[in-house]
Amino acid sequence: MIQSNLSDDSIGMALRLALSERMIREEDTSVIFYDLSFLAARIGYLVSCFPQNTLHGLAIKANPLTRIMEFVREIAPNIGVEAASIGEVTMALRTGYQANQVVFDSPVKTVTDLNFALRKGVHLNIDNLSELKRVEKLLTTMEYPDFQINITSDHSLATDLPGSIGIRINPQIGMGSILESSVAGEYSKFGVPIKYYREELEKAFLTYPWLTGVHLHVGSQGCPMQMLTDGIGVLYDFAEELNIKRTKCGFPLISVFDIGGGLPVSYKSATPAPSMEEYIERISVRAPKLFNEDFFKLITEFGRWTYTNSGFTVSRVEYVKRDPTINTAMLHTGADLFVRECLNPHDWPHEYTVFDQHGNLKHGHDHNPYNLAGPLCFAGDIIAKNVKLPEVEEGDFIVVHDTGGYTFSMWSRYNSRQTPRIIGYREGGFTILKERETLEELQRFWE
Ligand SMILES: Cc1ncc(COP(=O)(O)O)c(C=O)c1O
Repeated sequence: MIQSNLSDDSIGMALRLALSERMIREEDTSVIFYDLSFLAARIGYLVSCFPQNTLHGLAIKANPLTRIMEFVREIAPNIGVEAASIGEVTMALRTGYQANQVVFDSPVKTVTDLNFALRKGVHLNIDNLSELKRVEKLLTTMEYPDFQINITSDHSLATDLPGSIGIRINPQIGMGSILESSVAGEYSKFGVPIKYYREELEKAFLTYPWLTGVHLHVGSQGCPMQMLTDGIGVLYDFAEELNIKRTKCGFPLISVFDIGGGLPVSYKSATPAPSMEEYIERISVRAPKLFNEDFFKLITEFGRWTYTNSGFTVSRVEYVKRDPTINTAMLHTGADLFVRECLNPHDWPHEYTVFDQHGNLKHGHDHNPYNLAGPLCFAGDIIAKNVKLPEVEEGDFIVVHDTGGYTFSMWSRYNSRQTPRIIGYREGGFTILKERETLEELQRFWE
């Protein structure tokens, strides 16, 4: 079993220590914290759950902080990353990840992006049939004179191609509860829909020996485990069937199976998160050979599950407005840091706690509930409405729980607020993961 969420006690301890060690200065009107021991435990557990040859491509989009990417590499040198853009590929390589630890997934790749990815040797997931044509052309034109593809007698691929290549297939198994993050419905902008293009997909796998991978991603949060497993099942059956045909052609087998990410986390400490063990159990019942290293090399792309519960955000309360039936706590983080929470409040329900200016947890309920409003210049800049909280006063700290993933990575520049200080902590003490943005750096962004 693994701890689901950080407790109020552990958050309070970190906050008080940070205040006493002056890690939260006057100008740090908001701060993001990471419990690095919690994060390390998550990653260790993830690695222990899967076969040894699995490449865990942690989704950079969930957390692109360089110091965190370095930390992950230090504690788990075999772990990899999933990159959603050529920028993220470059960041990973510059942070020290080897090309074969990088999975490149963008749905909009230019020829230049593809060329770069192929030459570097990352695992490339082709998004669509037009991109497949581009890759074929790149591999067979004079740009790649070295990439002679030969099939050896044991059906392995003898090629100078430094990486591996798969294709994203939409299993079309339905939508989860959050439409904006569900990508395996009948329609999706991602991947090749299997029901409509099965023939073309088969043809591709029986034409290109170098196409050795399948990839799916069903959605991020809001997709039940059954739906995730159903998606894997659709691609597993497809790969098994095609592998019989590829054997007849003398082609190497489809051996790279990328199950994507999407295992949900719990944003409510009283609600247990879906368990990784159960997920693996279900996958191995539905797709038994997937966990056998003789047949498949698995890739995973867990972002939210890895990062979210290890972080929390603290904002000082600047003002409290009291109306007849509602109070409004005016905070230093709003839709700049919590874009999804402000635009889709029902889908992203965090927990909130109040600490006084010394970092002591406040208890009880004020008479009226609170809106937690940000500093931005639009009415929708409210990260949560009607929250029951203890009495909030100026100078208190509001903690937004579970902000370690998809929070700072979605930072919006609207209203030109400075990005906050980001602090990691573990037994050895605090470390600054990213300094608060200066006014000069802010100015430079717009130049
Ligand atoms: C292709 C792909 N892989 C992986 C992920 C990560 O999903 P999650 O963070 O829910 O695990 C996403 C998220 O949107 C994605 O689009």
